[in-house]
Amino acid sequence: MPTFNLKINNENHTVEADMDTSLLWVLRDTLGLVGTKYGCGIGQCGACTVHVDGNAMRSCLLQVSQASGMEITTIEGLSKEGDHPVQQAWLEHDVPQCGYCQAGQIMTAAALLKNNPNPSDKDIEGAMNGNICRCGTYVRIKEAIKTASKL
Ligand code: FES
Ligand code: FES
Repeated sequence: MPTFNLKINNENHTVEADMDTSLLWVLRDTLGLVGTKYGCGIGQCGACTVHVDGNAMRSCLLQVSQASGMEITTIEGLSKEGDHPVQQAWLEHDVPQCGYCQAGQIMTAAALLKNNPNPSDKDIEGAMNGNICRCGTYVRIKEAIKTASKL
């Protein structure tokens, strides 16, 4: 099996995997970074969102071979103490319900604010559009992003 060098949360890892294994399964099954969730496996739900070179990407759609050499950040690496502004705002607004989608929501929101520190309602709706929450926490997510933009 081929090996790949991955930089994840500022640590270097060498993993063995088939060329077409998705980054999602390497994160979860090989490296034990289970904060990144499997929802649909086809890029439709956003539960598996991570940052790749600072941009929000679906780890279920990214093959491990494509991820090699890129800077990958998962929810575990977003902040040391869980105190990234988005995480603080999430707590303040008590956003999660079941929680399953929330790592993906937070990673998408964090990437949005990194690229656009003062997003309009429309910007937020556009960026978060592909992240599905079956519990319907969308209103709290939007308010939390607005709060995080001020932190
Ligand atoms: S699991 Fe990747 S988008 Fe749904
Ligand atoms: S909080 Fe349950 S799916 Fe989003």
